[in-house]
Amino acid sequence: MNILIASPIYSGAIEKLRENHDVICAFDGSQEELCSTIADREVLVFRSGIQVTADVLSCAPNLRLIVRAGSGIDNIDVAQVEKQQIKLIRVAEPGAKAVAEMSFALMLALSRNLMEADRLLRQGHWAKHELTGHLLNGKVLGILGLGSIGTLTGERGVAWGMDVLGCVGNPTQEKADGLAAKGIRLCEMSEVLRMSDYLSISVPLNSNTRNLIDSEAIAVMKPGVCLVNLARGGVVDEVALYQALISGHISGAGMDVHADEGEGKISPLAELPNTILTPHIGASTIDSQREIGKIVIDAIES
Ligand code: MLT
Repeated sequence: MNILIASPIYSGAIEKLRENHDVICAFDGSQEELCSTIADREVLVFRSGIQVTADVLSCAPNLRLIVRAGSGIDNIDVAQVEKQQIKLIRVAEPGAKAVAEMSFALMLALSRNLMEADRLLRQGHWAKHELTGHLLNGKVLGILGLGSIGTLTGERGVAWGMDVLGCVGNPTQEKADGLAAKGIRLCEMSEVLRMSDYLSISVPLNSNTRNLIDSEAIAVMKPGVCLVNLARGGVVDEVALYQALISGHISGAGMDVHADEGEGKISPLAELPNTILTPHIGASTIDSQREIGKIVIDAIES
């Protein structure tokens, strides 16, 4: 088959696919580049970082299979995929574990001032008595979006001795019961905002969640809350967040996703000392990407 791999995936999977297929790797291309590389392709494999628009899809008359090597489908025109009757496969599960762990990496780094401690020590400053932090244990962990990533984050919170609550877009009694069995309480979003000491965001980006965390939502939050965003940049109004980080209403923010992502982009949040900014690496563990790579191969072969 003619395959376009449009984002970096596990290299072993690319090598394996090359054994039986005609594989082009053209990573993170512009719309124009995508339109030209996809023209004779039957399979597209991609992650975040590119936009699979209706224009791009209309350049691909032979396309039969699209494999999203990850979770989010905010960067693909799903209506156009359906219109062209192309099969779309999402490989969401393996990355979820990595994103849930990343949520804790950010919460722990913020609550123990790890970035500052490291920076000062490298300058020869032994800041032992300046850098006191906070425990996660005993605190309230709120999760916006108890899908697979949010639920795994919640389970880890429970194991950490946190009081875990969260919300979903479409709550049902069945969902509430399933979560309760894992020690996670399903409640309204307003309660999650009001109660959380740590707030982890893992909702998909769509018309209901764009700017979900705006100045109004922030005003409801507990003063001193620590926020981590592992979802999509568009879910948080970064101007409102900036203000709340300056005022201290939000004590710290760990942002793995950003309103404006890519090489050379510097978020205004980088001006603030109480942020940790990472380049959308939540799902990027070798283990998860290897697992995703295997599923991508199976999907194409079958
Ligand atoms: C995802 O949606 O799985 C993440 O954005 C990871 C990625 O594809 O880069």
